[in-house]
Amino acid sequence: MKSKFAFGAMIGAAGAVISIGLALAGPADDAITARKNCMKAGHGGVMAVAVPIMKGEKPYDAAALKAAYDAEGAACADWSKWWGADTQKGETVKTRAKAEIWTDPKGFEAAGGAWYAAAQKMWAATDEASFKAAFPAVGAGCQGCHEKFRAAE
Ligand code: HEC
Repeated sequence: MKSKFAFGAMIGAAGAVISIGLALAGPADDAITARKNCMKAGHGGVMAVAVPIMKGEKPYDAAALKAAYDAEGAACADWSKWWGADTQKGETVKTRAKAEIWTDPKGFEAAGGAWYAAAQKMWAATDEASFKAAFPAVGAGCQGCHEKFRAAE
């Protein structure tokens, strides 16, 4: 009986720690963490496969690209939920999102659209030549948005 009680007390203590964590973090943190994950793991994952191919350091690898595109699609699927006005600041998480996202929502949407249009061409590429022709516009799409809407570190 004694050990059972100790076990219960431990769970209680763990529960308290978890609820303190929840009290500090909040909905803006969740959105910011999710969009950063889309950027870093999703978009960054595509770059990690695509850039060495572009530089000729690695052979063209359609399967590796497809896997990275799929992971990007999964990581970025909820994009539209992450840019509410209440996500300009996190409760505990830092964000580099610039105020321009909310003062110029059309510009932000256009930057996203430019990237998306370029990415669609890259995703549709069927061979090395079409991939290499499509990639630069994708990189420009990332950069175009970052220049206006992402703060320097
Ligand atoms: C429509 C705008 C937009 C596009 C397109 C875009 N990004 Fe971003 N990116 C942002 C914003 C805004 C942030 C800052 C997010 C934050 O800190 O809340 C960001 C942050 C990042 C980060 C830092 C993530 C972190 O952990 O802090 C990386 C890496 C990144 N982007 C890579 C990319 C790559 C690669 C592409 C293209 C394949 C891309 N992004 C396309 C707007 C964009």
